[in-house]
Amino acid sequence: MNDTFLKACRGENVSYTPVWLMRQAGRYLPEYQAIRGNIDFLTLCKTPKLAAEVTLQPVDILGVDAAILFSDILIPIESMGMRLEFSDKEGPVLSEPIRNKSAVERLIIPDIEEDMPFILETIKILQKELENKVPLIGFSGAPFTLATYMIEGGTSKNFLNTKKMMFQHPGVFDYLMEKLTVTTISYLTAQIKAGVQAIQIFDTWAGILSPIDYKNFVLPYIKRTISELKKEGVPIIYFVNECAGILKEIKKSGADVIGIDWRIDISDAIKKLGKKTVIQGNLDPCALFLPKEDLEERVKDILWKGEAAKGHIFNLGHGILPQTPVENAIAMVKAVHYYGEKR
Ligand code: CP3
Repeated sequence: MNDTFLKACRGENVSYTPVWLMRQAGRYLPEYQAIRGNIDFLTLCKTPKLAAEVTLQPVDILGVDAAILFSDILIPIESMGMRLEFSDKEGPVLSEPIRNKSAVERLIIPDIEEDMPFILETIKILQKELENKVPLIGFSGAPFTLATYMIEGGTSKNFLNTKKMMFQHPGVFDYLMEKLTVTTISYLTAQIKAGVQAIQIFDTWAGILSPIDYKNFVLPYIKRTISELKKEGVPIIYFVNECAGILKEIKKSGADVIGIDWRIDISDAIKKLGKKTVIQGNLDPCALFLPKEDLEERVKDILWKGEAAKGHIFNLGHGILPQTPVENAIAMVKAVHYYGEKR
């Protein structure tokens, strides 16, 4: 087993900088398209044999140092009792958004083994398939990011409904966050018990908040989630998109690894987080459309600056785009392995 990724998460010495890509299994891969052509996205997530196959595709094709479970952050929301659909045009749609206390009351705290057995089954298959390859990362959305989807009913431009609930009905918002925190903890604990070797928590939308709102409405819940999960003994990665303005608060989350987006220079992020933090990131996903020499320069710059942290895991600053040429993603992984070797 290649355990370079796990060692880097723990801040231990490694012989090279490990790399994986957010959304590494997906539409940019013709092999994914071939499977997805015959099945809708949600059914794919719930079919363990196929979900496992899709998880393995980037490990073999790109040569990354970790696999990430194929699923979606919105899957538990369905198990909490909301109707979820993926439309090709609009992305995820939750038809009856949560806007009041009685809607929060109706939400179910799922029993993972009963309500999402397919997740645990996929992990079991992958454990066998990955035995001599790379570690498996489990994941979930962070309570706040899940709350935004539930309240907005999908993606949003200014998240007004979410902020209105926070500002006008903080008790209802806290009640929702409480239910999501309990669900997230039990969901991720079940994934760890089934065999995932690391966890990434995606807080895609936390960067839309001012530092004070992040501190009051988000931090207490993410701190509690992470401190509960730490009892299970696997590394916890916390990724926040558009993190620059709230890094000082994010540092207090207690995560083993902080994932950052590309809008901040990695040196500045390390300065703000301190040299005791392990960092993950942060190449602009669009850099994969640069000429090869320019892409390599950017990879080298991030690798070199990443040396100042306690540990560095190379990644994109957000998910890989569906239009990305596969050969460019392969070239990036090769460049990280070549230039990231500790000589
Ligand atoms: O990283 C991986 O390879 C593992 C699988 C994974 C998916 N989604 C598969 C997916 C992971 C970790 C996610 C996380 C996720 N999902 C996030 C957090 C990370 C981020 O990107 O910010 C969010 C916000 C979602 C919600 C979501 N899922 C949206 C907004 C969309 C539609 C937009 C889009 O990219 O299509 C999805 C769909 C989705 N999730 C696809 C995949 C492969 C595309 C579905 C398809 O095949 O049509």
